[in-house]
Amino acid sequence: MEKITAATVRADFNDLVAVVHYTRAAHELGLWASERKLIERFFPDRSAPLLEAGCGAGRVSIALWTLGYRALTAFDFADELVDQARSLAAERGADTGPHAVRFLHADATRLHECHVIRDTFSGAFFLFNGLMQIPGRENRLAALRELHRVCVPGSPLLFTTHDRNASPVERAQWRLEKLRWSRGEQDPRLLEFGDRYFDESGVGRTFMHLPDRAEILADLAATGWTHEFDGLRRTIAKEAKAVHAFSDECRFWAARK
Ligand SMILES: C[S@@+](CC[C@H](N)C(=O)[O-])C[C@H]1O[C@@H](n2cnc3c(N)ncnc32)[C@H](O)[C@@H]1O
Repeated sequence: MEKITAATVRADFNDLVAVVHYTRAAHELGLWASERKLIERFFPDRSAPLLEAGCGAGRVSIALWTLGYRALTAFDFADELVDQARSLAAERGADTGPHAVRFLHADATRLHECHVIRDTFSGAFFLFNGLMQIPGRENRLAALRELHRVCVPGSPLLFTTHDRNASPVERAQWRLEKLRWSRGEQDPRLLEFGDRYFDESGVGRTFMHLPDRAEILADLAATGWTHEFDGLRRTIAKEAKAVHAFSDECRFWAARK
């Protein structure tokens, strides 16, 4: 059976079920309370040029534009989602003038191929686990390296991951999964221990790597980022029911170039 690749993930995000799911979130949900709190803490200057990776249908960048952020560039490698983000920007008036949100089609692991994204950003974010949806640690490292390259010194980076031990049930599931890997009985499409590939009704197929803490700390250090903060979402803000329905608990990470 074929291993999961970037093409698998891109096709899953371009699939109609996923497009409807993320478009609805961009239109109706907007920023989570925790995202707003951390963005305002780490990115206080609303006129600074900021880069959003894996923007999907524009949920975060369009909400930030509404809050007064005025130099946003956002990209995703799923063109169907970028189309949705552009159309929501037009609907909200965020697509014209010198402060328009720029929505681009680009791959986080190959930013050098996108000539519009130059090394001038004052900060970057890759929210709602997008970084962990890149299959293969080498490729996640490439994305961290690329974001580091296009940011100026002093820039913050904010992203999220899903803990492996978020609940007793998950801890038990991962113990079982470890046993499967030790026997070579894991899903043959997975690349590394910590990977999951699952199908959720109304969301579509999702690949996600669930890292451990040591892995993220090592990958930040290896790509030039200095770890500054990490914490579970529930310790940052109380979220609305709709946010819980859209997304499980996650860990926010902030680092600095
Ligand atoms: C869970 S979705 C989150 C979308 C949006 N940020 C939100 O919160 O609604 C993750 C996003 O990351 C994007 N993504 C994954 N790997 C990527 C890559 N290598 N380059 C660019 N985007 C990527 C996916 O296409 C998807 O839109």
